[in-house]
Amino acid sequence: IMRMKKLLVILAFLQLYLNPLLAYSLRSCVIVYSKNPAADVVLNCANRKLTTVPENDIPRNVSLIYLSNNHIERITKKDFGNLSKVRILHMQFNKIAHVDDGSFIHLGALTKLFLNENSLTSLTANIFQGLSSLTVLDLSSNTIQFIHASAFQFLTNLKNVSLEQNNLHKITEIQPILQLPRLQKLIVRLNLFTSFETKDLQLNVSSCLKELDLSENKLNYFSITTPIFPHLQSIDLSKCGQDDGLKWDIPDKALLKNVTQLYFCKTLISLEEIQKVLQSLDSLKHLRLNYMEKLIHKHLLATVCKIPTLRKLDLYWNKVPNLSAKLVSCSQLSELKLSETNMTELSKGSLQSMKRLQSLALDKNFLTKVPDDIRSLSYLEILVLSDNYISELGCDDFLNTTQLSEIYLDINGITRLHSCVFEKLHNLKVLELSYNMLRTFGGSFKIGPPALEMLHFSKTYLTVFEKGDFQGLSSLKDLDATNNNIRVKHGAFEGLKNLETLSISIPSEQYYNFRGLERLEILTIYVYMEGTFKHPDPNYYEAFYHLKSLKVFTVICNIDHFGFPLYIPMQTLESMRHLEDFTADNIYITAPAPDTFRFNTLLKNLTIRHTDLSDLDPELFYPIPNLEVLDFSNCYLKSLDFLAQVDLSALRYLKLTDNELTVINETVFQSLPALTYLDLDNNPFTCDCSNAGFIQWVTSNDQTQVVNAHQYTCSFPGAEQGRKLLDFDVQSCWMDVGFLCFISSTCLVVLTLLSSFIYHFLRWQLSYGFYLFLAFLYDSRKKKKGTPHQFDAFVSYNVHDEAWVYREMLPVLEEEQGWRLCLHHRDFQPGKPIMENITDAIYGSRKTICVISQHYLQSEWCSREIQMASFRLFDEQKDVLILLFLEEIPDQQLSPYYRMRKLVKRRTYLSWPQAGQHTGVFWQNVRRALETGDGPTDNNLLTGPAQC
Ligand SMILES: *[C@@H]1O[C@H](CO)[C@@H](O)[C@H](O)[C@H]1NC(C)=O
Ligand SMILES: *[C@@H]1O[C@H](CO)[C@@H](O)[C@H](O)[C@H]1NC(C)=O
Ligand SMILES: *[C@@H]1O[C@H](CO)[C@@H](O)[C@H](O)[C@H]1NC(C)=O
Ligand SMILES: *[C@@H]1O[C@H](CO)[C@@H](O)[C@H](O)[C@H]1NC(C)=O
Ligand SMILES: *[C@@H]1O[C@H](CO)[C@@H](O)[C@H](O)[C@H]1NC(C)=O
Repeated sequence: IMRMKKLLVILAFLQLYLNPLLAYSLRSCVIVYSKNPAADVVLNCANRKLTTVPENDIPRNVSLIYLSNNHIERITKKDFGNLSKVRILHMQFNKIAHVDDGSFIHLGALTKLFLNENSLTSLTANIFQGLSSLTVLDLSSNTIQFIHASAFQFLTNLKNVSLEQNNLHKITEIQPILQLPRLQKLIVRLNLFTSFETKDLQLNVSSCLKELDLSENKLNYFSITTPIFPHLQSIDLSKCGQDDGLKWDIPDKALLKNVTQLYFCKTLISLEEIQKVLQSLDSLKHLRLNYMEKLIHKHLLATVCKIPTLRKLDLYWNKVPNLSAKLVSCSQLSELKLSETNMTELSKGSLQSMKRLQSLALDKNFLTKVPDDIRSLSYLEILVLSDNYISELGCDDFLNTTQLSEIYLDINGITRLHSCVFEKLHNLKVLELSYNMLRTFGGSFKIGPPALEMLHFSKTYLTVFEKGDFQGLSSLKDLDATNNNIRVKHGAFEGLKNLETLSISIPSEQYYNFRGLERLEILTIYVYMEGTFKHPDPNYYEAFYHLKSLKVFTVICNIDHFGFPLYIPMQTLESMRHLEDFTADNIYITAPAPDTFRFNTLLKNLTIRHTDLSDLDPELFYPIPNLEVLDFSNCYLKSLDFLAQVDLSALRYLKLTDNELTVINETVFQSLPALTYLDLDNNPFTCDCSNAGFIQWVTSNDQTQVVNAHQYTCSFPGAEQGRKLLDFDVQSCWMDVGFLCFISSTCLVVLTLLSSFIYHFLRWQLSYGFYLFLAFLYDSRKKKKGTPHQFDAFVSYNVHDEAWVYREMLPVLEEEQGWRLCLHHRDFQPGKPIMENITDAIYGSRKTICVISQHYLQSEWCSREIQMASFRLFDEQKDVLILLFLEEIPDQQLSPYYRMRKLVKRRTYLSWPQAGQHTGVFWQNVRRALETGDGPTDNNLLTGPAQC
């Protein structure tokens, strides 16, 4: 039995080995479900408290691995063997301090490696060996202080490197990186550099570097004196510089001729120095100056506004009074950010000159109205006014900014809109009004804006959509009205003929009306309870009849079971012939009626949560055979039998978490041939033999991933509570079978022992029996034929006594008395099997004369002859046997010849030695014996010789 088990284990292992792509019961990872079965395989092992890379848990075909947020301390060579398809590896937020040389050698396809937030202190020579495809390497937030000169030699395709927040001191330490042939972006923010001087670097070729982030170093000196960065576009010197300020040494303007972006934030630098910098950059387009109040007070912006190439100016976080007034001459700008600058109002005329301004951000300020100044910005396209104190929008606010396409007004105090506000905005596409105190649209959307595509007003005070409220929004595609409590009056959505996505919160009283939304594809309804429940209009579901294009329908009730059903009968879904996803969370009280999806034959994803489905009728599934995803979480399910009663052959994803499943009959999964993802977390499993089949299936099936199966815990029986389901010893359940095996193998052993015992000790008895049997067959055959006897007597003797037979016996019996004798040497047919000859001879003769001597007794054949003859004696009740003793044989010597001794005891026999000189009498006795007929034994005839 042990051997069998071992064999099975080996077989199972072999199967795994041969099928490395199919590792299904993962211990600490989940293969993320993807709608598209051909999509890249994504493995999620994040947030698992793992201390090592999980062995045997990474299928070979994965493309993306999340191992972030664990406790891994070391990466070893065997961690990532044979994962030639992995493209992205996330290992951030671990405790990795060591990476063995060659650990990544098999990751030839890896393009992105995230090792940030770990404990690496050095990068050794071969740490990245094999990563020839890597383009992005994030090493930020480690404590790296040493980089081997060859550490990056293998990373010939590397483009982006982050070494942010490490302990690097000298610029020469990053030389191996700057040498990379494809390097474009290098972040060495938050290190310990005190200077950056190109004269310290010895690069063979010039670098491809485009972006260099040196921010938050104690950098005193920035010097580019050699032409090694001809492609450099962006330099970040935020929080650099020490007491007497950052020194910038670039003797030749041409060395930075392509720098377009320069970022300063809290940089310690003198006005003279920064002016020098700004004047040395001929191509500067984007300047960021955050927390640079001191220099701004010293009129830095006057210099900035003189940079003719400048287009984008970020001044956020500069809390300087009247900041905008300092920008009067910045007429060249197209983008301006003044977020979080403690602005209460935009100084009059400050933006007047910015005729080219396209994007203006004024968010996180104290503005109470849309600044008048924007009216002069006739090219403005994007206006960000989020998070201010604007309470009202005026009719003139956007009078002249007819180019506006995006307005962000969220997080303000706007209470009402007027129809004139957006009237002129023929190009407006995005309007964000969420988090306001809006109570009415004031007819704003009845006539436009005609190009509006996205309108969001989540979390406002709106309560009702009246008929025609959105009449003018014929281009609207996305409407978000969640976190409100909105009654939708009849005809409210008229005009939204291109709306594709609608999210809306409505009270449970269900004033639905979706007339006019013929193009709607995605509808999300959040249901709120307000006051007491009133039954809806019995025909309310007619409101859904117009949603003919709907593909994704989600209804969610956010209140704890509120005790009445939001009725979604079949009629509601009747016209949604294209419905693919249906989600009802906390909506039904009991299982939906069996005909609910009668018209939704294309349904692929069905999610019903927080509903009592214990009385589910399997007929529900009959019309939806294309179902791929089924999520019945939190549904009081006690059994999975319903799955076996329906055809769900396309089902790939099954989530049944938080139910009341205690015992699972694994045979139900046979009816789900496409199932690859099964989540049964948080069910009160019973850990006894009733689940043995399921446990076995979880660990051995090679198709369905049972998500987190190793974390499933036992709820029953009491003694097993809290233990892991898969730790339950199923072997103990196979005891019955085992016992049978034990019994049968025991029997086999006993039988083998017995037969070898028999063979050893009783083989003669056995062969005797065999020949008796042969004799019996022969006899009955002969009897049937009734052939006359060929010989008078068959003489059975041993070769040693042949001389006597020929010299003494033959002359008397054949020549004198005239008997026909059968002698095996003379009369046996050559070529016939000896046994057949013997039986033929015995049965072909009337009598059998046994010439008994010591040799005779020892001869196997002779004793068989006797046995056969004696069988005939008993069988035919005929006296066929004549025993002729050639020598005296003591009784004890006869004892092994049990049968003979019996014969000798029972009847008389002829003894040659006893005859002595009177051989005449002896032969006369033989004659008498031969003469006796075939009749039943006649004792008289055989008496005598013994007394001779
Ligand atoms: C500099 O920038 C221009 C415009 O982006 C580009 O065409 C040119 O190739 C760049 N020169 C170098 C050396 O990168
Ligand atoms: C900016 O405004 C905040 C809030 O009113 C205030 O606490 C802070 O002192 C202001 N900062 C400056 C520099 O004016
Ligand atoms: C609006 O734009 C027109 C034409 O560009 C201009 O004449 C007018 O002064 C602008 N109005 C305001 C209030 O700036
Ligand atoms: C099923 O559909 C819902 C709603 O669209 C979606 O949130 C969910 O992710 C889908 N489930 C799967 C497994 O794709
Ligand atoms: C599991 O289900 C199959 C098919 O319905 C049934 O034949 C079998 O008896 C069940 N097994 C258990 C242990 O209930």
